[in-house]
Amino acid sequence: MQYSQKVLDHFMKPHNVGKIEKADIEATEGSPACGDQVSIYLNINEETNVIEDIKFQSYGCASNIATGSIITDMAKGKTLEEAKKITWKEAADALDGLPPVKMHCSVLAVDTLRKAIKKYEIKQGLIPEEKFSKKTIVEELKKVIYPGVGEDIVTLKMVKYIGFEDGIVTIDVEIPKFDKYRDNVAEEIKEHLESYEEIKDIKITL
Ligand code: FES
Repeated sequence: MQYSQKVLDHFMKPHNVGKIEKADIEATEGSPACGDQVSIYLNINEETNVIEDIKFQSYGCASNIATGSIITDMAKGKTLEEAKKITWKEAADALDGLPPVKMHCSVLAVDTLRKAIKKYEIKQGLIPEEKFSKKTIVEELKKVIYPGVGEDIVTLKMVKYIGFEDGIVTIDVEIPKFDKYRDNVAEEIKEHLESYEEIKDIKITL
């Protein structure tokens, strides 16, 4: 697999690695695509909402470690508002690109940062706790990367229908019968959604 020099540099000497013992907030996320995990720890200035310290621990692959390193660099010194706008594409670009099948690794790192920020904002009463809705499903589907091109299935307009009624999620995805990633995509959709207690069943039509 072809990695950029920047990915290799951040993988070999990652920045901001470790745990903040007295972190204001921490979040851990796992990737349904590969089972890897990343944790992010934040210390935030209560007056200014600036991220003063940030560290990460990765139990993932080289791309995940490199993305953890670059996004913690990118987020340090930023306000929460600025940091939550960092996208996985920006992180991948800052690493001079990632192979398409590895894009989910940068999604995982960025998603964990966003989760930590959201947890902090809820804890501080800055935002209300979000209720589960169709929007939640769309947000989860935006994390499902089609490995063939390294882009999410919502942006690629592969999702044709989303329904949610009586705890049953119905999703229609357009993907050719002969596509080798068909089963991976279906599996990943399920794994992203099944942790929500509001969901009782997931029906995917491919
Ligand atoms: Fe698991 Fe990269 S393959 S995070």
